[in-house]
Amino acid sequence: MELKGNWNYPTSIRFGAGRITELPEACRGLGIERALLVTDPGLAALPMVARAVGLCRDAGLGCEVFSDVQPNPVEENVSRGVAAFRAGGHDGVIAFGGGSALDAAKAIALMVGQTRPLWDFEDREDWYTRVDVAGMAPVVAVPTTAGTGSEVGRASVITDLSDHTKKIIFHPRMLPAVVIEDPELTLGLPAKVTAATGMDALSHCLEAWCSPFYHPMAEGIAAEGMRLIREWLPTAVHEGTNVKARAHMLIASSMGATAFQKGLGAMHSLSHPCGANLNTHHGLTNAVVMPYVLVWNRRAIEDKMVRLAAYLGLSSHSFDGFLAWVLKLRSDVGIPHTLAEIGVKEEHAAEFAPQALADPSTGGNPLPMTEEDFRTLYLNCIGGRSL
Ligand SMILES: [Fe+2]
Repeated sequence: MELKGNWNYPTSIRFGAGRITELPEACRGLGIERALLVTDPGLAALPMVARAVGLCRDAGLGCEVFSDVQPNPVEENVSRGVAAFRAGGHDGVIAFGGGSALDAAKAIALMVGQTRPLWDFEDREDWYTRVDVAGMAPVVAVPTTAGTGSEVGRASVITDLSDHTKKIIFHPRMLPAVVIEDPELTLGLPAKVTAATGMDALSHCLEAWCSPFYHPMAEGIAAEGMRLIREWLPTAVHEGTNVKARAHMLIASSMGATAFQKGLGAMHSLSHPCGANLNTHHGLTNAVVMPYVLVWNRRAIEDKMVRLAAYLGLSSHSFDGFLAWVLKLRSDVGIPHTLAEIGVKEEHAAEFAPQALADPSTGGNPLPMTEEDFRTLYLNCIGGRSL
């Protein structure tokens, strides 16, 4: 079966190897004549960005690169991008890269025509209605990692340095109008990044599956996403040039982000303060905390795990069977076992617990959480307790 398709769910997706060549056509279809390609500095130095720019220019489009985007992007990355967009007379954004670049790019496209500050559009109550929709620039998203799924998301995560929290900037129209998913762009990802981002996709599917809200469509997508990850993540990690494995992981990543409209949970609540304060890698942090959160939530999710283990074809259709698979997968792809191994110390537990409680992901956790619960859970993850 050829791994290629044109899909319109949840947005317009051009999927398949080599389809980056359709970038100019995708821009033109949105009325973009002078694109600002937003990426990170590492990618900006790679031939794939030069090629994307070249494709646009050869087709007669203007295209400039903005790459002042850090991992766990901050407000300044967005405001500088907005300044570059205005100074260059751009009329659309190509969001090109991993989660940080895509999130920064989507926030830049939101902000180019707004008068209010960025934090006025945080995902609270109906704050998104403050957005002047006519002031938003169109976005073509091109993911180069398989994990975040930001290319099909309606929000950006931006770190607020004033209180070291990750804030979610949300508007339904932040969903990129066109996505180009070309697995060839992910072939060069190092094994460690492939593992960490792939585990982020798994955490999205898994937290969506476990969250207590009613959303059977999201559950269906989450379950199939996890099946693809189970089958293909180890190959993508250990055999990076396997296009088939890369393709399946790329769509599994988009599936995770589509599914988590149903909700996330304590994996993301625990992970966000680590990223905001210590700059730990988001996917890696989720991967470390994953089994501890499963064990914590066990009594609320036991039945769901039986169904999931059966769908995934695990040898034991039980919570324990699923947990054993997660632990084995984590070690197969080289994920550390404790938060201590990625620099989180016991003294951070009390500091991060209130931030985790306040995180928007907390509302989707299968069990209600308290600050004390998060402190205990952090100590479990830091010290390898409860497993
Ligand atoms: Fe995530």
